[in-house]
Amino acid sequence: MTAEKQAELRVAGEGYPLKALEGTMGDLALDIRDLRAQSGRVAYDPGMANVASCRSAITFVDGEKGILLHRGYALEDLIENCNFTEVAYLLIHGALPPEEKRKKFSALLNLHSMLHEDMRSFFGNYPEGAHPMAVLSAMVVSLSSFYPELRHNGVKEEVDITVTRLLSKLRTIAAFSYKKSIGEPYIYPSHKYSYCENFLNMMFRSPVSRYKAEPEDVALMNKLLILHADHEQNASTTAMRMVGSTGANLYACISAGICALWGPLHGGANQAVVEMLEGIIEEGLTPEQVLARAKNKQDPFRLMGFGHRIYKTYDPRAKIAKRLCTELLQRRPINDKLFDVALELEERALADEYFRERNLYPNVDYYTGLIYRALGFPTEMYPVLFALGRLPGWIAHWLEMRQDPDQKLMRPRQIYVGPERREFAPVETRE
Ligand code: SDX
Repeated sequence: MTAEKQAELRVAGEGYPLKALEGTMGDLALDIRDLRAQSGRVAYDPGMANVASCRSAITFVDGEKGILLHRGYALEDLIENCNFTEVAYLLIHGALPPEEKRKKFSALLNLHSMLHEDMRSFFGNYPEGAHPMAVLSAMVVSLSSFYPELRHNGVKEEVDITVTRLLSKLRTIAAFSYKKSIGEPYIYPSHKYSYCENFLNMMFRSPVSRYKAEPEDVALMNKLLILHADHEQNASTTAMRMVGSTGANLYACISAGICALWGPLHGGANQAVVEMLEGIIEEGLTPEQVLARAKNKQDPFRLMGFGHRIYKTYDPRAKIAKRLCTELLQRRPINDKLFDVALELEERALADEYFRERNLYPNVDYYTGLIYRALGFPTEMYPVLFALGRLPGWIAHWLEMRQDPDQKLMRPRQIYVGPERREFAPVETRE
């Protein structure tokens, strides 16, 4: 934290001093915690686009320059040099793990990868076609029934066990929910495999297949999960923090994060992008027709996977995802018309005045769904894969929030625009 400076808000001739805050990378803020007490007024910002809800040391995003740092390390460096469990460790513990700690963390992840056998029966009670995000959020909050929440604040060993237990079990729950959806037997995690290889094995192996995850697919899965690992105060992280501010346990907070992520404006966009592209092909729409619909305010259609609240330039994750998608389709040539349509749409949109003047660029969800599709995941699993990647970020924010002296119950105010006090209307007088 650099030195605080003074600012002044002037309202109706009155001046109210406000502390000016500045972050490590130059974020500037006004501390309005006393605004209402001082001025009798609150600030109004329904989308919270101008509100800092906390001070955080986990991830830095520069939306104008397209920069994304995790604990100070550039995403591009982490993608090239780390696997997902190392990045998870970095986000949660604040430093990349030395070999001995990396091994211990992996061993804990392996130790906790099985689900309590009583939980297996939960999957069978979901109807055919239940969305895996519904199953995921319900299963995660059910973990709190099987594993005692943290009894003591800050007992490090307990936190490590709870954190690695959740990191490991979410992967198993995701794979089991998929197997349930296709009526195949569950494949258990194995001590023989790494985090991502275990996941691919649980997803695609069956008693009658000789499936063995290709090393390139395991490497790609690691990169995809790192791409999603954290993104500062996005909607699902804010939802998770909001629930955590009430003192709810970690499982309840993560379940809230999963539900928030599910929305098509957020993590559900990767599924919405592929469904949009499938619809474009099915209806035989030209790129001009698609862009015209996206620009038409009377049409609810939006170019899914485009635009971002923070990035006003190309999302660095979209750049990486596009490269990974191109490499995968070269390695595994599947004649996927969706990729061609996506490439052409991107090119046309980036050249289109409407998109340019609004700084609308591809975001992380534009190409990742195409990669998942080429890897054989069903469309409804895409948001689950986003949640799997985002979990260490959510956990890191939960831990940070618990130790932040500024944090308190999140309870915004409002501007009331309803009726003034009126006399009670007995039923016989009502129309
Ligand atoms: C994620 O916050 C995070 O960090 C999220 C995330 C993470 O890692 O956690 O990065 C992950 O959620 C990525 C975003 C995935 N969502 C989508 O791809 C859905 C499509 N995108 C849009 O719905 C939209 O861009 C949002 C919701 C992502 C952001 O919208 P904002 O910031 O609320 O901006 P806005 O809706 O006010 O749009 C500004 C203008 C409007 O036009 P005008 O009123 O100025 O004429 O841009 C237009 C919008 O209509 N616009 C779009 C558009 N996105 C914005 N027009 C057509 N297609 C789009 N996709």
